[in-house]
Amino acid sequence: MSSSTYNSSQVVRRARALLYEKWQPRGEPLIVTRGPGRLNLIGEHTDYNHGYVMPVAVDRSVVIAATPREDQRIRVYSEGLDSAAEYTLGREPDDHKPGWIKYLEGVSWVLADLGKSLRGLDAVLYSDVPRGAGLSSSAALEVAWAMALLTATRDHLPPRELALACQRAENEYVGMKCGILDQFASVFGRAQSALLIDCDSLEIEVVPLQGHPISLVVCDTNRPRSLVNSEYNQRRASCEQAARLLGLPSLRPATRETVMAARETLGEENFKRAWHVVTENERVIETAEAFKRGDLEAVGRMISASHRSLRDYYEVSCPELEAMWTATQRAGCYGSRLVGAGFGGAVLALVAEEQVRQFIPQVTASYLESAGRQPNVFAVQIANGAEVVLPSG
Ligand code: GLA
Repeated sequence: MSSSTYNSSQVVRRARALLYEKWQPRGEPLIVTRGPGRLNLIGEHTDYNHGYVMPVAVDRSVVIAATPREDQRIRVYSEGLDSAAEYTLGREPDDHKPGWIKYLEGVSWVLADLGKSLRGLDAVLYSDVPRGAGLSSSAALEVAWAMALLTATRDHLPPRELALACQRAENEYVGMKCGILDQFASVFGRAQSALLIDCDSLEIEVVPLQGHPISLVVCDTNRPRSLVNSEYNQRRASCEQAARLLGLPSLRPATRETVMAARETLGEENFKRAWHVVTENERVIETAEAFKRGDLEAVGRMISASHRSLRDYYEVSCPELEAMWTATQRAGCYGSRLVGAGFGGAVLALVAEEQVRQFIPQVTASYLESAGRQPNVFAVQIANGAEVVLPSG
């Protein structure tokens, strides 16, 4: 498995040029931050159930360049969307702004609530994290933005608090009741490694992946996601209800046996959701162990089993994800599964390094034929977590 580190001088050059072109700031200091997207190897829909996840940060990032202003105004231009938006720190949000600005407003709202005194910024952002592809472009944006806001007042938060603040912005401001997976992966990512995160204690074990001859291939269905927030929040509510019915604080202490024994009390829907969660937690731990002993076949089996469980018990797949999953299984890989919340987005395939060149065109052609839609299939590398690129040191 190969790794990547960003070429920071290239990042700074591009960010600076964009900032000067857009806002013509009068001088320094220039702030540049980078928040990477993430790919979850295994452990889907377990984070908000206090379970285990195993993500990596990838070599696709949101980059923000900014200069402080004298007032409380925020002006941001997004290169990818070719759209600019403004808001004033400390003011009530107004619903007519573009959706992406809510993530930024949410982050500043949480930081202010944590007692941080913020100042206005002229900022630009560019990103090579594809949106809606299961790489969590939103967490990458939140994390990079939080770092830019804090850097502007020479302040900072410890990484864990920073990630939790970004999650809170999404939960309480954007209205997506996400767990901690995305923000932790973006903040704590480590090149050449996966993170085994215990979402109950929030402890992280770094699992080295170097030396494994595998590639991570993202197979984006290009199906726009729909109903994600409402379906997602429903799944979460169902799990919380299942835990209550089992008399547990969360599904974390639940086992196959307790869930099976309570099948009738839970009702079929809650049972299925809980079954996915307890078996997925087991698969995460087994995957980490299989990586450690270099058993890639076993890793692949767990990954494909995770997909079946997400499809049959958690019911977050869709026809396009199934078409893509079938394409990846046929093309030959250790294992593959839908990643992220589901209902669209991407399939992750764990592919033998020497097979990747054939794998990508084969999956592309076969998905195009079965789903009638052009996919976006690409390999990613594992990267380090978020950073303040400038000012350096
Ligand atoms: C989304 C959420 C995460 C996690 C995944 C499913 O990406 O933001 O917190 O729950 O879905 O594993």
